[in-house]
Amino acid sequence: MAGIEDKLLELHALREQARMGGGEQRIDVQHGKGKFTARERIERLLDKGSFEEFDMFVTHRQQEFGLDKNVFLSDGVITGHGTINGRQVMIFSQDFTVLGGSLGEMFAKKIVKIMDYAIKVGAPVVGLNDSGGARIQEGVLSLGGYADIFLKNVMASGVVPQISAVLGPCAGGAVYSPALTDFTLMTKGTSYMFVTGPKVVKTVTHEEVTAEELGGAEVHATKSGVAHFVTEDEDETFELIRKLLTFLPQNNMEETPIVSCSDPIDRLEDDLNYVVPTDANLPYNMRIVIESVVDDGDFLQVRRQWAPNLITGFGRFNGRAVGIVANQPSVLAGVLDNKSSRKGAAFVRFCNAFNLPVVTFVDVPGFMPGTVQEYEGIILNGAKLLYAYSEATVPKITVITRKAYGGAYDVMSSKHLRGDLNYAWPTAEIAVMGPQGAVEVLYSKELRALEGEEKAAFVKEKEDEYRTKFANPYNAARNGYIDDVIEPRNTRFRIIRGLESLAGKRDSNPPKKIGLVPL
Ligand code: HXC
Repeated sequence: MAGIEDKLLELHALREQARMGGGEQRIDVQHGKGKFTARERIERLLDKGSFEEFDMFVTHRQQEFGLDKNVFLSDGVITGHGTINGRQVMIFSQDFTVLGGSLGEMFAKKIVKIMDYAIKVGAPVVGLNDSGGARIQEGVLSLGGYADIFLKNVMASGVVPQISAVLGPCAGGAVYSPALTDFTLMTKGTSYMFVTGPKVVKTVTHEEVTAEELGGAEVHATKSGVAHFVTEDEDETFELIRKLLTFLPQNNMEETPIVSCSDPIDRLEDDLNYVVPTDANLPYNMRIVIESVVDDGDFLQVRRQWAPNLITGFGRFNGRAVGIVANQPSVLAGVLDNKSSRKGAAFVRFCNAFNLPVVTFVDVPGFMPGTVQEYEGIILNGAKLLYAYSEATVPKITVITRKAYGGAYDVMSSKHLRGDLNYAWPTAEIAVMGPQGAVEVLYSKELRALEGEEKAAFVKEKEDEYRTKFANPYNAARNGYIDDVIEPRNTRFRIIRGLESLAGKRDSNPPKKIGLVPL
């Protein structure tokens, strides 16, 4: 009978075999593509020595098309738990060196197991994707495996944060798992995502397109909005995941993460008093406003390149993590259009799900007019943002820096949508529309009768009158829709005080099975 030494040797040998994945040659090919292996990725992402692996000895159960001879311990996906900045995460990392990281029955079961575990213990899930898709030899079992993961993604949604890094191919139905998670990161040059690849596209639509053009990182960061973050290489991806997690609670039952803060809470930013140009038609950079007020200027922007007329991202105030939403006057004058409405809605809903207060900076001329916007459903998309702010029960602080016109005033976390603290700078203009549009509507008859200098003088007089009467924060403040008009340089302090006073906020919505977001 074999003694313990022999048994331990066997265990170590099996572990070593599992660690080799698809073998040295395939590992070299993986490195040759500028990619790390599944295990190297875990090592680089997690705190050193923290990884505890599950299911190392799992193998597939199918025999067809040579699978009986092609058996690999771990079955092409490494799963387990570890820590990031000392906080637990569940992780899976697809191993492209084993059957191209293709997903079969047991591969899927391993992922489902760690997702169940994540829901049970309340820890975020990080998925590292690098896969040829459904394992062809396993047929419907692999399709079923995908569906099992999709279902788990939905069950975990709003319970624990889910983060997907796409570090290689992610094609076909496989794309729907990252799409169901909260954040997707893509690495330039080595990752791509599409529902149908270039060959099928050519057959069906006769369109000739490369994988990069169809679903590379740049495309999904700028055109589709599928990628929330784009990185230059894998190490930047891991760094970004580690940073992102610092802003998030472990699960929906946890409060906002708070870290110690050395940035003075009453830091005055004199430049903010002058950031809004005197000419209301001139742009300025709202990102500067955000960076001036958050702790240490540290702001993590989400979906930076997609719908840049609305800024979304994470920052801290006196150590307390918050979500920030802001119109960006330097892009399309900060107008709300289809994409930015969807972007804002998704972000606000994420914050609400995970107890992150939402701080909103408003400078918005309204909703984008025109057939393009209407045909693409600006009515439904604008309603999504309205819905998201309305249903959100987390603390909501709003600062109107300049324009808050029309429906966009209502939508951007107004008092009427349960905004808790609504502040305006003295430069705020809160009205149904801007002076130019208002005068054109109110005096159309008079304007038709006038010409030349006389007309220009009349327009100027009426616009000035409108500006004095309406393009200011005081009408709203007189009605209690604005809680205070604040000095811009004092914004950081007022937000911090506000967040502190709202720390114990309790609010709820009427009992319902689900709310029907206009989709
Ligand atoms: C089984 C696969 C595989 C797959 C790759 N491999 N994809 N094995 N099922 N889906 C294997 C290859 O046979 C090869 O095995 C190894 O992985 C590496 O593949 P290569 O082709 O040599 O690598 P590369 O040249 O880098 O090309 C990668 C690739 C290509 C672009 C991903 O392999 C490919 O096109 N694969 C098929 C992709 C696909 O159509 N998948 C189905 C999508 S539909 P050896 O033994 O030589 O190392 C789908 C439906 C999901 O996924 C539905 C969910 C609802």
